[in-house]
Amino acid sequence: MQATQEPAPARKKVIFSAIQPSGTITLGNYLGAIKNWVALQDEYRCIFALADLHTITVRQEPAKFRQNTLQAYALLLACGIDVTKSLFFIQSHVHTHAELAWILNCYTQFGELSRMTQFKDKSAAHADNVNAGLFTYPSLMAADILLYQADLVPVGLDQKQHLELTRNIAERFNGIYGATFTVPDAYIPKTGAKIMSLQEPGKKMSKSDENANAWVAVLDKPEDILRKFKRAVTDSEAKVRYAEGKDGINNLMGIYAAVTGKTFEQIEAEFDGKGYGDFKVAVAEAVIESLRPVQAEYNRLIADKAYLEQCYTESARQALAISRRTVEKAMRKIGFVKSAL
Ligand code: TYM
Repeated sequence: MQATQEPAPARKKVIFSAIQPSGTITLGNYLGAIKNWVALQDEYRCIFALADLHTITVRQEPAKFRQNTLQAYALLLACGIDVTKSLFFIQSHVHTHAELAWILNCYTQFGELSRMTQFKDKSAAHADNVNAGLFTYPSLMAADILLYQADLVPVGLDQKQHLELTRNIAERFNGIYGATFTVPDAYIPKTGAKIMSLQEPGKKMSKSDENANAWVAVLDKPEDILRKFKRAVTDSEAKVRYAEGKDGINNLMGIYAAVTGKTFEQIEAEFDGKGYGDFKVAVAEAVIESLRPVQAEYNRLIADKAYLEQCYTESARQALAISRRTVEKAMRKIGFVKSAL
């Protein structure tokens, strides 16, 4: 009998993304990025990192920084990042990130970096420490992505400008030396791409906000989540509908849609004739229910440091092997003498 020839499986597209382990992980991070990462793991070759090198652009207290990094690692596993399908490592464990970042710094213009809105915001927020790392942060981010020849980068809207710069850097390098880096596309979710502050809904939800009522952390207690949503700033119309100028309600509808999978029309129908009070409680309860299993799994994982170490070490080992090939390729093209070490 003649054997039928199976067509070779198509190469899975590569996804890269990262998150900073600075303080707590917020509902914005969860809905804008992490929930998406989890859903993409079967279809794509996923590579994820905790961007701890990025975190030191803002001064960190050493013990707290170490603790935040381990907690963020456990929390992302609890959210559903599965190291049997994806790589998930700590950025500083894979030295190629810092190496390629230096190289890319030399292909990134001062003017380009000066236009980054995150740099402008962060240098205003930390005026006493506007360090060079804060300024060149986007070339490290470009290195993270380009090292793995990523096709797609799932991020929230706030990172779109950095992604565009990454594409420009890759195209510039490829233009000089020939095809070296895959030029990546941003992958921005339909719902949850920009979760806004609960207190000032014109601003993105950010853990660095001094008003703790403005953001919800993935590890917040149910009673705190309920209280924060009850206090969320809305408008005086008292009608649950999505409209220009209703930033607070639009944001709550966005959160409810991202958590439940409902459309805005379904949400408007569900709350027709009901007030904001009922709606806020419903959003809070939906968020609490979606976070409940994540919190339980986190509590189990954070107690098992040996398991965490095993996961991040094995992923880092594989990430180093992949990324080293890209750095060597880029260095060869630039004209560095090959190291015999
Ligand atoms: P970070 O740690 O600030 O945020 C991690 C992810 O969460 C998304 N996000 C949000 N999405 C919706 N609404 C919000 N309010 C909200 N706040 C944060 C971010 O868009 C991001 O996707 N520089 C990056 C980390 C990074 C990275 C990378 C990302 C380093 N290297 C390479 C992608 C690829 C950062 O600080 O994200």
